[in-house]
Amino acid sequence: MKLIRYEAPQSAEVQALFVRTFSDSEWPAEGELVGGLVRQLMADTDPRDLLGFVAMEKGLIVGSLFFSRLRFDTPVEAFLLSPVAVQPDYQGQGIGQCLIRFGLDRLKERGVMRVFTYGDPAFYSRVGFRPISEETAPAPFRLSQPEGWLGQSLDGHEITALAGVPGCVTAFDDPAYW
Ligand SMILES: CC(C)(COP(=O)(O)OP(=O)(O)OC[C@H]1O[C@@H](n2cnc3c(N)ncnc32)[C@H](O)[C@@H]1OP(=O)(O)O)[C@@H](O)C(=O)NCCC(=O)NCCS
Repeated sequence: MKLIRYEAPQSAEVQALFVRTFSDSEWPAEGELVGGLVRQLMADTDPRDLLGFVAMEKGLIVGSLFFSRLRFDTPVEAFLLSPVAVQPDYQGQGIGQCLIRFGLDRLKERGVMRVFTYGDPAFYSRVGFRPISEETAPAPFRLSQPEGWLGQSLDGHEITALAGVPGCVTAFDDPAYW
């Protein structure tokens, strides 16, 4: 398996991966919703605010994830990990965790200090995320499942209170995702 940075010519294949994976794991409407989110992330985000990665197997993209910038009032480099998908036939082989660790290492190299995500703590705790209160680090919108708000520090310092509600990139600027 090869792990690399996402590049624009891969956009159609990456979008198809998210549609298929989320249609399979949830239902078709969810596949379309996440596929639309990923399309907008890739098309409308300033490249300085987005990092995507893909896992390749025999020339095909079998996994992908995106990190997009969160802007707090505090001067801290922070990104949101979302979404992540591994093609159904390839799940359960460690690709998801490898891809996330690989992406986190690249962010660390760039000096990113904090990463947040919104998902299942049982899965994301395997790759270093811990539950985080909205008092410590507010989310961009009111969370329907606050127990899914997770964070980790990449610079070795504990996550201390971050001021203000953060701004997210346009693709996530919709309460439906939160
Ligand atoms: C979640 C996902 C990315 C994990 O990728 P993966 O390559 O299958 O994960 P890994 O092989 O590295 O790890 C698998 C382990 O995580 C567990 N796991 C997978 N999804 C999980 C979830 N939603 N909650 C809890 N545990 C989960 C598996 O049970 C497995 O546990 P085991 O090792 O004890 O058997 C992949 O299953 C996927 O694309 N799912 C559908 C889309 C999705 O839910 N994305 C995440 C939300 S954005």
